[in-house]
Amino acid sequence: MDYHIAQPSPDKLQVLPHNQYHSSDVLTPSTTNPSPIVQFKEWFTEVVNAKVVPEPESMCVSTCTPSGIPSSRFVLFKEVDTRGFIFYTNYSSRKSQELLANPYAALAFYWREVHRSVRVVGKVEKVSREKSEEYFKGRPIGSQLGAWASRQSSVVEEGEVQSRLEEIKDRFGVKDQEGTTTDHGIIPTPEFWGGWRIVPL
Ligand SMILES: Cc1cc2nc3c(=O)[nH]c(=O)nc-3n(C[C@H](O)[C@H](O)[C@H](O)COP(=O)(O)O)c2cc1C
Repeated sequence: MDYHIAQPSPDKLQVLPHNQYHSSDVLTPSTTNPSPIVQFKEWFTEVVNAKVVPEPESMCVSTCTPSGIPSSRFVLFKEVDTRGFIFYTNYSSRKSQELLANPYAALAFYWREVHRSVRVVGKVEKVSREKSEEYFKGRPIGSQLGAWASRQSSVVEEGEVQSRLEEIKDRFGVKDQEGTTTDHGIIPTPEFWGGWRIVPL
């Protein structure tokens, strides 16, 4: 599809022509599993195995303030079990603050290459500390350091994150993060970091 951007006036930008959305199959009750979670697992497995969607685990998470003002951002889907869908984040971030005050979220996946999108709407709960720690231990050391150094959702000064990263490396005695992937066991899970589970309504 060739995109054409029109600017009919200096204050307006339009995308032309209309991109026709094609779907290869039709969803009916007889072609879908009665359990949405089982259906999701089938679709996600298909998408991963097809190897055509660059980052199938990217999902948009929408949260709302108590007065109903929404905000959305992308995070990485990490696990689904019989109870719900899990992602990990900073508990001081805007999304976490909104979830603490108003514990409902919507997720949206879009897998363009296979003409499929999925929405999940649910109530959220924090995953257990043990589970968050288990996941954190398996992250590459660079991501572990990043979780400590990044104050999500806040404006930072030039060079601030880099200098915080150096402080954190000193604090935990990390000399060289190159080549280290998992099970280094040096860096503890931050208290302000962990998972959220979205339990479908
Ligand atoms: C593809 C992609 C994946 C991301 N995955 C995560 C994630 O798993 N957890 C996370 O906290 N932020 C992730 N981010 C960053 C978030 O989009 C967001 O910028 C950050 O969490 C702060 O969001 P907030 O201020 O709305 O809380 C990801 C960003 C992108 C583009």
